[in-house]
Amino acid sequence: MEVINKRRSVREFLSTPISKKVLEQLLRAAMQAPSAKNQQPWRFIVVTKPADLEKIADFSPSFKMLKTAPAAILLLIDHSNLTAPTMAIQDMAAATENILLEATAQGLGSCWLGVYGRPERMEAIRDFFQLSPSIEPFSAVALGYPIKKEVFSFVDRFDSNRVTWM
Ligand SMILES: Cc1cc2nc3c(=O)[nH]c(=O)nc-3n(C[C@H](O)[C@H](O)[C@H](O)COP(=O)(O)O)c2cc1C
Repeated sequence: MEVINKRRSVREFLSTPISKKVLEQLLRAAMQAPSAKNQQPWRFIVVTKPADLEKIADFSPSFKMLKTAPAAILLLIDHSNLTAPTMAIQDMAAATENILLEATAQGLGSCWLGVYGRPERMEAIRDFFQLSPSIEPFSAVALGYPIKKEVFSFVDRFDSNRVTWM
């Protein structure tokens, strides 16, 4: 539970770059996620160029933190060759969460940016990266070392009213 409890959405970052080794570790975490029939529908784009991050930040007011983030990982659904297509969204969410958890374990701040289900965000990403029709944007994760260390604070959200024991 330690890393799960520490993870919080972080939206203010130091300019310190994230090494390629650490970024690859986050991709490894994503690709260890469970997926329906082990179909692994994910594709990733790792963005570290400040000019690109600036442009993506303008796709939505909710993406503003990308202006100061040293990196972002975009998660994309590859619809070609899916064996359980209706499950792909769930697979992608599991992969996104794995990145957040490994980022926390690495001392990085992270924030899940919602893309799928918001056509204007999906189209902006599709156009910017010139994605082929079989590839669909799902989410983005803003990444960076946090300015404030206390961001990793535990907030207990356990609520027994939401649970039915049978
Ligand atoms: C599907 C999804 C979409 C989200 N989209 C955004 C977003 O676009 N911008 C943002 O700043 N945070 C976004 N978040 C982060 C949530 O606001 C955050 O997880 C929530 O407020 C709980 O806070 P915590 O992550 O610190 O526990 C998103 C989270 C999820 C799961």
